Amino acid sequence: MLLKVLGTAAGGGVPQWNCACRECSGARGDPRRRRRHASLAVKATEDRWYVVNATPDIADQIEGCPELHPGPEQRRTPLAGVVLTDAELDHTLGIARLREAERLELVATDAVRDAVLERQHLGELLAPYTELTWRELPVGGHAEPLGTLSTIRVSAIPVSGKRPRYAATDTADAGDSGHWVTALRLTDRSTGRTAVYAPALGAWPEALEEAVAEADCVILDGTFWDDDEPRRSGFSARTATAMGHLPIDGPHGTARRLASLPARCLYTHLNNTNPLVDPAAPQQKALARLGIEVAADGMEIVL
Ligand code: MLT
Ligand code: MN
Ligand code: ZN
Repeated sequence: MLLKVLGTAAGGGVPQWNCACRECSGARGDPRRRRRHASLAVKATEDRWYVVNATPDIADQIEGCPELHPGPEQRRTPLAGVVLTDAELDHTLGIARLREAERLELVATDAVRDAVLERQHLGELLAPYTELTWRELPVGGHAEPLGTLSTIRVSAIPVSGKRPRYAATDTADAGDSGHWVTALRLTDRSTGRTAVYAPALGAWPEALEEAVAEADCVILDGTFWDDDEPRRSGFSARTATAMGHLPIDGPHGTARRLASLPARCLYTHLNNTNPLVDPAAPQQKALARLGIEVAADGMEIVL
């Protein structure tokens, strides 16, 4: 299995366009500290790739990843489709950015598809540009191949019912399956290797525990270092957990859980308030002592 980390930041990116905090200013002065929105490219077959989530940076992410460049024929892209872990804007704004595609395959749960179609009205908006085709992301034990002829199988594990802010209220036609936010389990049938990718993680259900225990690589929500960070930084009146992101540190933090796993573990979806954004932060060393990494843009993971 071959994975390419296309971006590692939470919504806003690093630097965020309207922010002059220490981390954003630092990244403005040093391009190596920049982080694009969290995304992952997965090699499905020799010449077909899927990206997990379509971020506002998607076109730059494609340009930054030679495996995703078009060719050898004109207008022939190796990008076969997009798998959505949720319907958040930082994971779906890039769908419109791909409107030059002849057609675009989207793999999502019903709730996520309905949010994109009924709330964002993207089907209507993009119909004159491209055809969106939808495939259901299987939830639970059942897994589906990642496109024709792929040995990679994908399935989703529900990890919270948190709706995007634009879809916060109920309507009759918005999906209510509860599968608003999922972790992806990717398994390569040819090697037996498994990766779990969860850029948003609101809870730690039993099914996730089982999946990470068996995984060779786990790439997890690292939005906030500790539960109080969003409040302390003035970013939100809510805690990290209340915002749908389990914190890394603390008694209920995810680092404790990752530390005991045999898998290679990395954090992604770092918010610009998270001290981990600074490579020199002591929190980076604290994680390294637990054997946990912070994912970097451009990282290649071979399993
Ligand atoms: C999240 O990760 O919680 C969202 O992207 C935040 C938001 O923009 O509402
Ligand atoms: Mn986000
Ligand atoms: Zn900032």
